[in-house]
Amino acid sequence: MERLTTIAAMRAARRQARAGGQSLGLVPTMGALHRGHLSLVRAARATCDQVTVSIFVNPLQFGPTEDFARYPRTPDADCALLAEEGVDFVFSPSVEEMYPQGATTLVHVGGIGDRLDGASRPGHFDGVATVVAKLFHIVEPERAFFGQKDAAQLAVLCAMVRDLDFGLELVACPTVREADGLALSSRNRYLSPEEREEALVLSRALAAVETLAAGGERRAGALVEAAMQLLSAQPRVRVDYVAAVDAGTLEPVAEALPGTLFAIAAWVGATRLIDNVLLG
Ligand code: PAJ
Repeated sequence: MERLTTIAAMRAARRQARAGGQSLGLVPTMGALHRGHLSLVRAARATCDQVTVSIFVNPLQFGPTEDFARYPRTPDADCALLAEEGVDFVFSPSVEEMYPQGATTLVHVGGIGDRLDGASRPGHFDGVATVVAKLFHIVEPERAFFGQKDAAQLAVLCAMVRDLDFGLELVACPTVREADGLALSSRNRYLSPEEREEALVLSRALAAVETLAAGGERRAGALVEAAMQLLSAQPRVRVDYVAAVDAGTLEPVAEALPGTLFAIAAWVGATRLIDNVLLG
């Protein structure tokens, strides 16, 4: 496995792979890797000849009061895990390499980019779309792998790929969970034991919504209400949003149909967690 820190080195590696007729898979991450990230790596390994994982804590997608400075950074452990997974390249540029002085261009996905997390975290999806567009240009993968865990991010990036004619395939991978249901997240390590326990209410609320929907409840309002009841019973949990939306446009729906995205964002203590389910 090679670790590359400059855009020029990454481009040279990609050129060489391309000359050898190898297909390239890209897994963009911010590091502090867990089994959720590794599931994307395995999906990439299964369908691409060479796999690049990027590790870059992207300052553009953090708001001024958010956790950029204290976001967990574990590069050596990350690289050890990725080497074990048979990854070919780790691309871990510095902030200066990605955003040299004077860089002012942003990618803005209108509409979708201002919904759900885009509404709660203004500018967040501009930061995500900008860094992912740059990674796509630098690595030029045939396929890029993203988690369903960040369903709104996936919708934003699908729109960007469509609107800006990126010639690549986005592959959505299922959410990986702990045995007790908690969706894996790099931010779970911020949780105290008591908060970790209360955080389970997110996946429990989603399971309750799935059961209601499977039983024939289609009114989005009733599903939101059921989730809110469970969430509001936890003293350390503060809801950001609970929403039933179209998975592609992220616009609210009145009736939950198969394929409707049911998404939750909540603060557990000082940590903001998100989780979602696609209704069957
Ligand atoms: P990060 O939070 O590190 O996540 C990297 C990728 O891993 C994303 O596609 C995310 O959806 C996926 N992922 C995270 N937790 C997962 C889980 N429990 N199961 C399955 N997949 C999971 O998302 C980002 O970084 C950034 O916004 C990025 C796209 C890298 C742009 O900076």
